[in-house]
Amino acid sequence: MHELHIESTDKAEIYQEILPQIESLIGDETDLIANLANIAAVLKAAFGWLWVGFYLADDTKRELVLGPFQGPLACTRIPFGRGVCGQAWAQGQTIVVEDVNRHPDHIACSSLSQSEIVVPVKNQSGRLIAVLDADAETTACFDSTDEYYLGRLAEMIAANQA
Ligand code: SME
Repeated sequence: MHELHIESTDKAEIYQEILPQIESLIGDETDLIANLANIAAVLKAAFGWLWVGFYLADDTKRELVLGPFQGPLACTRIPFGRGVCGQAWAQGQTIVVEDVNRHPDHIACSSLSQSEIVVPVKNQSGRLIAVLDADAETTACFDSTDEYYLGRLAEMIAANQA
């Protein structure tokens, strides 16, 4: 049985505590959906963000499709290049939005969301397979610490995806 252990209240330290636990949790499991579901649960428990989860890339339709998440209901499909998620896909890079109300192409799934980070998840061939999206009820919740550790998490997810 897996149980999450978090002792710290410092953000970087929380990441340092949970990343090895996530690594052992997803271990040799190659089922992407199962791993993403557990990761969303761990991140929600660790940080209490409003919404955290994944959108999966549908290359044929050039859309992101809602995947495992924790939080209020969310929009199901996001076209390539649209919203913060679609832009992170198009750019292949992490996007941090300090204030979603000031972002020109933010897609509001919940009016409570004030800041957001979207991190691309690329497989071993470098193809984007998903994005990790986190939303917070406060402005400027996410910074370079989140960008660094969530980027490492994305690499961990991709490590067993061909
Ligand atoms: N805000 C995102 C949409 C997804 S929800 O926040 C869960 C965006 O602009 O792409």
